[in-house]
Amino acid sequence: MRALITGATSGIGKEMAFYLHRMGWQLVLTGRNEEMLKCMAQKFGSSTKYIALDLANPDAPQKLYDFCRGMRIDFLINNAGFGIFGEFSETSLAGELEMIDVNVRSVHILTKLFLRDFEKRGSGYILNVASVAGFMTGPLMSTYYASKNYVVRLTLAIREELRRKRSGVNVSVLCPGPVNTDFNNRAGVSFSLKAADPKFVARYAIEQTLKGRAVIVPGLMIQLGLIGASLCPPQLQAAVVCELQKKKKGSGR
Ligand SMILES: NC(=O)c1ccc[n+]([C@@H]2O[C@H](COP(=O)([O-])OP(=O)(O)OC[C@H]3O[C@@H](n4cnc5c(N)ncnc54)[C@H](OP(=O)(O)O)[C@@H]3O)[C@@H](O)[C@H]2O)c1
Repeated sequence: MRALITGATSGIGKEMAFYLHRMGWQLVLTGRNEEMLKCMAQKFGSSTKYIALDLANPDAPQKLYDFCRGMRIDFLINNAGFGIFGEFSETSLAGELEMIDVNVRSVHILTKLFLRDFEKRGSGYILNVASVAGFMTGPLMSTYYASKNYVVRLTLAIREELRRKRSGVNVSVLCPGPVNTDFNNRAGVSFSLKAADPKFVARYAIEQTLKGRAVIVPGLMIQLGLIGASLCPPQLQAAVVCELQKKKKGSGR
């Protein structure tokens, strides 16, 4: 069995690679950090393939799919992603378009291309990494939250189509709360809530995907938080998220 992991060089994706390797899976790894990919491939052995790609590049998702031609992929993990903090009127347009390319466009393309192969074969797993942000409105990280809403809705819609066809293909979405990775450094913030261990999140996500779970939310507190958020009127929920986001920057605005 072979898994393809995007964003395998750091954080949750890297821990997923280690966990799947321990379970005996063969791996195809991608990210921009070629040195890290090389180092991981050396650790895992010659069956591990890797390709360094910037998924913000318009050709990159198709290049990745072409790279995998001839290898049977059984498990696609769309994990690469990042966030940008700030008021919508002030954040960089170029940076946000890059984020949409990585968090949305590449997930969309790769899910479609691999899903077609999996459906022909009647088997396969796709895990799209969203966030609890995917169920919320996120002032001060508006585009990031919107991108993760896209991933949640796309995945659940595809899942329903597959269910009606009685397909053997499983599509799941991972929705973690804060996780202790490089994510915050890149977004330029620090967590206002306790962050989960990426090893735990990776293991739980893979176990739950292989069991066929639709929405995977690691950790009881985050599960309860999501239930609370779903009971809140939308404006109140946005106001609460805004307060939590302000604490991340310590701005007090
Ligand atoms: N950490 C959290 O609190 C948290 C919470 C909920 C959801 N998530 C989601 O979890 C996923 C993984 O994030 P993480 O927390 O593990 O953060 P991370 O440690 O920063 O890892 C992000 C991964 O995405 C890859 N990536 C970023 N931009 C890329 C690009 N332009 N092209 C190709 N690969 C790119 C990075 O690889 P390179 O640097 O090598 O390109 C890296 O491997 C993301 O989708 C994130 O939105 C994170």
